[in-house]
Amino acid sequence: MLIERSRLDGKVALVVGGGGEGIGGNTSLALAEAGACVIAADVNDDALAAVEALLKRTPVKWATIKADVSLEDNIARMMDSALAKFGRIDVLVNVAGGTTGNSWGPMIDKPSSQWDSTQILNLKYCYLTGTRVARHLIEAGRPGSIVNIASMSAYTAPNHAAYGAAKAGLISLTRSMAIEWAAHGIRVNALSPGPIDTPRTRSRTSPEMMRRYNELIPFGRKGTAEEIACAVLYLATELSSYVTGHNLVVDGGCTIKFSGMGPATK
Ligand SMILES: NC(=O)c1ccc[n+]([C@@H]2O[C@H](COP(=O)([O-])OP(=O)(O)OC[C@H]3O[C@@H](n4cnc5c(N)ncnc54)[C@H](O)[C@@H]3O)[C@@H](O)[C@H]2O)c1
Repeated sequence: MLIERSRLDGKVALVVGGGGEGIGGNTSLALAEAGACVIAADVNDDALAAVEALLKRTPVKWATIKADVSLEDNIARMMDSALAKFGRIDVLVNVAGGTTGNSWGPMIDKPSSQWDSTQILNLKYCYLTGTRVARHLIEAGRPGSIVNIASMSAYTAPNHAAYGAAKAGLISLTRSMAIEWAAHGIRVNALSPGPIDTPRTRSRTSPEMMRRYNELIPFGRKGTAEEIACAVLYLATELSSYVTGHNLVVDGGCTIKFSGMGPATK
């Protein structure tokens, strides 16, 4: 039965930034519903509590880890701890990302520290977690799947240069990982969401901005975190067994309609 390819029974999935009720929490839940033991890592205590509440409803084994992926020693500790929990990792999803502080605006006005922190949070940690999982899988002689959450901003990010560059870099990194590890049966894909309604984006979007977004979006609405989690599930499972190095755009048609969603440049 082809539908069995959508199952992850006996597999272990690490979701980095897997907490909360946005893309991370919904991805953790989707992988658990597919039968995987899920380890959700997150920097935020409330986000960890929220995903624990979701995972408690599933029959699978699960665990959470507190870690800040902008700090290299935290990443090493997180990976050691994740591997120790269930003795293996088969699926890695790098969800954590975004920006901190006042990131929107012309790049000419931004400090270089903003550039550095954005590259670390959206690109460098994915290199560190991805290589660690690949080493583990190659040593174990097992196949695996890695999914890196990029963004439609990889294509164009007016007034969000550091973020767009980091996500474009992540798509390129994904392609390099895919080709280097294909012979080991490790598939690596990126997923680029368009505008998604999550607690984080809702907190930054006024009702007027939301109305304007909805007018522009071909589907007339933002996407949901569940819709991104479904696409992750496709890439994480054997449903996509011949897909690697791909960037799956899940944006309701936004990138084909126009070139960017940021505030207009004045
Ligand atoms: N929401 C959107 O519209 C949208 C659009 C395109 C791309 N994305 C990407 O999707 C991903 C998730 O977006 P979201 O809106 O659900 O965001 P989010 O802020 O809710 O992030 C998901 C989780 O990552 C955690 N996280 C953040 N920084 C972390 C860190 N330093 N260490 C560990 N965990 C950390 C957060 O606590 C959160 O639980 C991000 O990579 C984002 O860039 C989102």
